[in-house]
Amino acid sequence: MSSQLFSPLSIKSITLKNRIAISPMCQYSAVDGFANDWHLVHLGSRASGGAGLVIQEATSVSAEGRISPEDLGLWKDEQIEKLKQINAFIVSQNSVPGIQLAHAGRKASAASPWNGGRKIPLNEGGWETVAPSAIAYHQSENTPIALDKSGIQKVISDFKAATKRAVQAGFQVLEIHAAHGYLLHQFLSPLSNFRTDEYGGSFDNRIRLTLEVVAAVQSEWPNNLPLFIRISATDWADGGWNNEESIQLSKILKEKGVDLVDVSSGGAVSHQQIPVEPNYQVPFAESIKKETGIMTGAVGLITDAAQAEEIITSGKADLILFGRESLRDPYLGLTFADELQTDVEWPKQYLRAKI
Ligand code: FNR
Repeated sequence: MSSQLFSPLSIKSITLKNRIAISPMCQYSAVDGFANDWHLVHLGSRASGGAGLVIQEATSVSAEGRISPEDLGLWKDEQIEKLKQINAFIVSQNSVPGIQLAHAGRKASAASPWNGGRKIPLNEGGWETVAPSAIAYHQSENTPIALDKSGIQKVISDFKAATKRAVQAGFQVLEIHAAHGYLLHQFLSPLSNFRTDEYGGSFDNRIRLTLEVVAAVQSEWPNNLPLFIRISATDWADGGWNNEESIQLSKILKEKGVDLVDVSSGGAVSHQQIPVEPNYQVPFAESIKKETGIMTGAVGLITDAAQAEEIITSGKADLILFGRESLRDPYLGLTFADELQTDVEWPKQYLRAKI
């Protein structure tokens, strides 16, 4: 039987040549939110490497929404140009360029991992962070400012403006980052959202900002292009956001026209207990797909071709996102095609390596 991992996936007007996506991964290499040649080579080589979809790292909709000072951003028009060049290269490799739009909320203003990953103090180049409630992720950190109504409106309009720029930059897939304890997830989770207004408390109130952001993005994102959302299916902590709520939210997102839920987990609170092992997040993708009929992406410790093939063949997910394995092997798509004895097009410059 021919490989299902290498079967095309059509979503709206876009056809991915296979089910292999590069998971969004911060490179901590931008200056003032601008992409540079690192991003061109990093993203470009993964496109040459056979992935059907290359999703650019969490790209901040505002300067204050960056996780680190070195995150990519799309809060000003000048940031579009380099991304346009990168995207044109990705398309030239018969791959599809995607972007993840994000706001880090209370997890913003942190150093890159190789600089220790700690929160950067205000007097050392850090900045005030915002959140649903004035509660830090970690006791040791500065307390974030609870967003007021106008702050919430700014977040929504920043997502809208960044989406407009993403269209101009030539992205063909847009993913909203509502996972990993960043701003939208902070509103979703009862462990970080203690608001008493219409944005906190009940399930309907906690999902309100996410739905408003989805609507703002959709007001700029072409109807015929795929819209994804990444969620954390569970907080892995008592009293937290859970898979039942993820299913409920996914049902609503499907009705609103979101095409695919990229199913990750965790990140809301520091006392989470995650049973990390291969495929540990796949059952969430499977249940969301089964219960709602929306397409899902599976991610997390999926590292080899046969493992990915099984997930697609058994209908647990529609797309596989590869993170660290694609850092180890940028040519993952080509490697996996060989392993699954599937014929795929190689870059013509590399054909002699096949003989
Ligand atoms: C990540 N991850 C991540 N996730 C996300 O939604 N947006 C992001 O920008 C990042 N950044 C990031 C940077 C680096 C260096 C790593 C290793 C990871 C998480 C990533 O997309 C993926 O979900 C996890 O790494 C789990 O998948 P793997 O690595 O087990 O395939």
